Formats: sequence, structure tokens, C-alpha cells
Amino acid sequence: MLRKDENELLTRVGPGTPMGELFRRFWLPAALSEELTEPGGTPVRLRILGEDLLAFRDSSGKIGIIEAYCSHRQAPLFFGRNENCAIQCPYHGWRFDVNGECVEVPNSQNYLRDTPNAKERLAIVAYPTHEAGEIVWIYMGPREHKPDFPNFEFTKVPKGYCHASRWLQRSNWLQGAEGEIDTSHISFAHKDLSAGHEKVGITGLQYSMEDDSPVLSVKETDYGFMSGSRRHYGGKYFWRMTQWMTPMFSLIPRAPSDDFTSGGGRAWVPVDDNNTITFAYNFRVDRPLSQPELQLIEEGAHFPPRMKRGTVQLDEGHRIDTWLPSANIDNDYLVDREAQKTINFTGIWGVNEQDRCLQESLRATGARDRGIVDRSREHLVGSDLAIVAARRRLLRMIKTLQQGEPLKELARGDLYSIRAVSKVCDIADFDAFIEAYRTDALAS
Ligand code: FES
Ligand SMILES: [Fe+2]
Repeated sequence: MLRKDENELLTRVGPGTPMGELFRRFWLPAALSEELTEPGGTPVRLRILGEDLLAFRDSSGKIGIIEAYCSHRQAPLFFGRNENCAIQCPYHGWRFDVNGECVEVPNSQNYLRDTPNAKERLAIVAYPTHEAGEIVWIYMGPREHKPDFPNFEFTKVPKGYCHASRWLQRSNWLQGAEGEIDTSHISFAHKDLSAGHEKVGITGLQYSMEDDSPVLSVKETDYGFMSGSRRHYGGKYFWRMTQWMTPMFSLIPRAPSDDFTSGGGRAWVPVDDNNTITFAYNFRVDRPLSQPELQLIEEGAHFPPRMKRGTVQLDEGHRIDTWLPSANIDNDYLVDREAQKTINFTGIWGVNEQDRCLQESLRATGARDRGIVDRSREHLVGSDLAIVAARRRLLRMIKTLQQGEPLKELARGDLYSIRAVSKVCDIADFDAFIEAYRTDALAS
């Protein structure tokens, strides 16, 4: 369990909240590159950490993420004209560039020239951005504390080696992130009852089905921790070593292999306290993703009809553009009770859907906070080891930040150049396993 005050600390993410300020020290995924390909193209409405934002690629090709509303009379810049290296407000024509600077006030020609501090007063919020790994990233913290960009391997591979996607999750970020590091649910929520299911091979999930009670180990590192799960498999051990990288990135291995050249992971970016955007990345380091691999990834994410591009109105009015899952809380995730008897453990199709169903449907703290689970009611057991470690680590990081001390998690971008590992072998001890398959040494 987690005390109510600690639950509050970890789940509230708006400006000025302790966890919100911690998130603002990290580079965060904001949108997909594919949403912003065209210079002067359609902007994308976002909300991140409770702030309403607009992402656009200006006519010269530069990406900007700025406040979503005009500083004149608060018109939505989404409906504006994206041309001449600025977004022009559709109401009275004020123009804002990727830095949030107001570069023209055409309905009051001399205002900018004649008014003291006019540029500062009319400027809207704009955040630094970075494009890597098919994702547009944002840094929303104090400029003087901007860290190195985290060098995840998937952000360094050539084009075609990496695929990224994103979608809306109707829950607080933490229950998504906790689902990701909870390795014991794989033997249940993702169990496949139909032998020979053709989708299972690439993920390696079938190796987790022989043993429902894995031995878990956690080893803290500067970036977060490595989490090892050891299951019996065919007279040997099946190891799955994943990484949790603060504040909410995961690395997940594919099927057991000798060289660990492919992997994936997810990141849980808070929209606000009750909503999250899940980012998923899949990549290889040795060659481009093949057509069958891409097809499998697409089917698991953006492929219609399972998800469609859409716009959704959030609780406090702002609309965001994202991908919306077809199986969702309003249709019970299309649960099929017959399939639950014969096909898979949940009767819900797809790993992402199974995860999202459980993470979105946990018992809520209250009507106003429908997306935040009440962790004071939990009864944690040994298999929740990694979740406990993550909560403690985040609470420690909040304290470190409040005391004005540096976060070791942000000391170097190359802390994040690591790989997840999946392996069938005879090694029984986690430290010995790490020694044999050191992934920080493997990563290029
Ligand atoms: S509200 Fe934007 S120019 Fe008037
Ligand atoms: Fe899962």
C-alpha cells in the first residue's frame, strides 16, 4: 500500500506540484514525427503535465511547441494559419513563431514598436524541442537545468530501424508505469490459451507460461533499476531483464536471443492527473525492421480498426489530437467471454488492450479523480517488489529536487544507452546473470 499523502505526491502532475516539477526536469516524448512532417502543415493539439500546448512545423521546417492560445484574447491558435515562419491567430492576425515570440500585431500596427516591453508581454510559452527516434520531444523545465538528451538506442538508429506510436490512456500516468514494471502479470493478463497462436513467437511471451511464480530481483542503477524475473523453462531458467528508467520509460526485450539486437518499450507521459499518452517504441539495432515485423507492430498499435486518429475533449475543455483505441472503457474493451474460455486469459484481444483495460479500470480514488487508483487499499506481496522500488525511488527523487540537490538520474545522457535482455540459460543468480550479459557494455 501507499499512504494517501504519498499517493497524492506521486500522482499530481500539474505546474507547481512536486511530481510535476520532477517530470519537468526530463526530456519527454510529446508527439510523433509522422504527425509533423509537412512544413506549414496542420498543427497538433497536446496537453502535457496539465498544460495546453500546440505543436507545429513552421514553413521553414522548424518544430515548435507553444502555448495553445493567443495572448491577445485567448483564441485557439490551432485554427490559425501556419505560414511565413509563424502561426497566425485566426481572430485578429497576431503572429507567433516557434519560440513563442509575437512577431507581428497587424491590427495595431505600431504596438510592437512603440510599447515598452511589448515583445515580453505578448510572448506565449514555448518549450525546447528535439526530434529523435520518430518522436518529437519536449523539455518543460527551467532552462538552466536542461539535461543532456537521453541517448536511448532507439533514438540513435537509422531511419527504418525504429517505429513509434502513441495513444490515449484514460488513467493517471503512474498506474500505466506500474503496470509496465509488474512482470508477474504477464503469466496471467497476457496468457494465451490457444497453443500455437501465431502472434506469440516474436514477443517471447510463451516462455513465461510454464511458470506463474517468477523469482524477482531488482538492482538499482543511476538511471533507475534493472528488474530480473527468473522462471523455470524446459529444465533451464528463462530470464527476462527489463529496465525502468526514471521517471517512466521502460525497455522490454523480445524473444530470447544471443545478441539482444531488438527490443521495445513504452513511456507514460502525463496529459493531466487523469489522462496519459502511452508512447510505444520498437526497434532493431542490426537492420531495418522487416515488413512482417512492422505489420505486427502496426497491428498492435495504430492499425485500424483497433485505433483511429481522432480528437478528444478533455475534462477541462481543451481538445487534444491523438490516437484513440477502439476497445475502451465505454465498451468493456470488447471483452469476449467465449474467447476467455478458449483463446486467452482475459477474453480481450491484444497485449496493449489487456494492459490498458486493467490500468484504466483500477478502483478510483473518487469521482473527481476517476483515473487515480487508491493505493491505500492495496495488499502488496513479493511479486510487487519492482513497484515498491519504483515508488520509493520517485519519492526520494522528489525530496532530492526539493532540497535543491542534483539528480544523479540526469547526470549523463548516455546512462540511457542500455538494452533489455531475454535469455534461456543455466544461470540462477541475478548478479551472475548481469555479469554475463551486461547490457550497458552491449549498447553502442
Ligand atoms: S485573439 Fe489572437 S489575435 Fe486576437
Ligand atoms: Fe502487460
